[in-house]
Amino acid sequence: MNFQLTEEQLAVQAAAREFAQNELWAGVIERDEHQKFPAEQIKKMGELGFMGMMVSPEYGGGGMDTVSYVLAMEEISKVDASCSVIMSVNNSLVCWGLEKYGTEEQKQKYLTKLATGEIIGAFCLSEPEAGSDATMQRTTAVDMGDHYLLNGTKNWITNGSSASVYLVIAQTNPELKHRGINALIVERDTPGFVVGTKENKLGIRGSDTHSLMFTDVKVPKENRIGEDGFGFKFAMQVLAGGRIGIAAQALGIASGAYELAVKYSKERKAFGVPISQHQAIQFKLADMATNIDAARLLCLQAAHDKDAHLDYAKSGAMAKLFASKVAMDTAVEAVQVHGGYGFVKEFHVERLMRDAKITQIYEGTSEIQKIVISREILK
Ligand code: CAA
Ligand code: FAD
Repeated sequence: MNFQLTEEQLAVQAAAREFAQNELWAGVIERDEHQKFPAEQIKKMGELGFMGMMVSPEYGGGGMDTVSYVLAMEEISKVDASCSVIMSVNNSLVCWGLEKYGTEEQKQKYLTKLATGEIIGAFCLSEPEAGSDATMQRTTAVDMGDHYLLNGTKNWITNGSSASVYLVIAQTNPELKHRGINALIVERDTPGFVVGTKENKLGIRGSDTHSLMFTDVKVPKENRIGEDGFGFKFAMQVLAGGRIGIAAQALGIASGAYELAVKYSKERKAFGVPISQHQAIQFKLADMATNIDAARLLCLQAAHDKDAHLDYAKSGAMAKLFASKVAMDTAVEAVQVHGGYGFVKEFHVERLMRDAKITQIYEGTSEIQKIVISREILK
């Protein structure tokens, strides 16, 4: 692995940092408080090329590598993890899945708009009774010849009400278990498709999370991704890369909290000196910095593996497992460094602490990452 970032990668990092600081910082507390979807901000992110970073320019994307994507995700997440989860789902689940496995027709019809941020997408795997145990799909896609008839409920879908295109995983041949599952592209206005109420969440409150209901939704056959029965493998492949994005989100939350803690520790005085001169605070900062650097290396390793076409299921899972713990630990300690001020909204660290928690849950909980890692070690 080359530890030196290229000029292009540094430029992407700088552009993402500038955008996050100039355009996301000012309204982030209000968006969090009112669960306001960052529509304007996402539009700008599309214009700047952050919504389809790794998609080939042929389909309107930035043609960038995964390392650049990780760097951008970190910078956006330092300031607004709601924006970064919207970005992550669109980039690494929806766009990547379509570009890698979609037909030329699907790419022309959907990917070109998703990659520019003209529309955004959602990835729909989880169900009320199928979260970690993702093969237990109850949503059915019955083969009707020229179309599938989709029935069922999806839960916790990010971009649930703001997406135009939904990649829906559903069971077609239950007797084949996970090998009977399909992935279908469903358009927002298809009759029988209803978006449920918005979840009132602990963190990433600017993102919109919804259940989705499908009742006799007709999905044309040409909207199936890959061969019949490829849907579960599709989901697993997509998630292997998606986890690198969430690891980078966790890294960003951690580094955002850390930077605020360093700044505050130099300003706040107690017992006649800045609190940064107390060794207990210095040690907290040292632990944070060390953990963040280790998390960043794991994220870059996973991104490098993906860019080098090596197997990245294990390195991506390791990056997510570790970085999400670092995000949680760092954010809690950043609140501690701020004392009482850390407990109120103006100082940002309480939001970062709430946002950090989700990184240990979605795209596979930490327990699931350990299953993925240990299976890779033992296989
Ligand atoms: N690539 C390709 N195929 C894979 C794969 C991978 N990385 N990992 C597993 N598979 C395949 C296996 O080869 C197997 O297929 P075959 O039998 O044909 O060989 C099939 O998938 C089933 O695999 P397992 O037997 O390992 O399945 P399992 O039931 O024991 O568990 C699991 C697998 C890893 C636990 C999986 O269910 C899982 O990842 N669960 C977590 C679900 C998850 O991450 N959900 C996230 C939803 S999206 C989201 O959360 C977005 C967001 O918040 C923003
Ligand atoms: P469960 O699977 O019920 O797990 C409960 C607990 O049991 C967890 O601690 C888990 O780790 C543990 N557990 C389960 N099985 C095992 C095991 N075998 N060994 C050890 N421990 C185990 N899903 C989507 O498809 N698309 C999205 O866009 C999306 N966005 C989300 C956004 C938010 C804000 C949230 C909260 C969730 C989102 N999800 C999405 C769903 C998310 O991926 C699931 O919540 C997650 O995979 C866990 O599933 P579950 O909630 O059903 O928990």
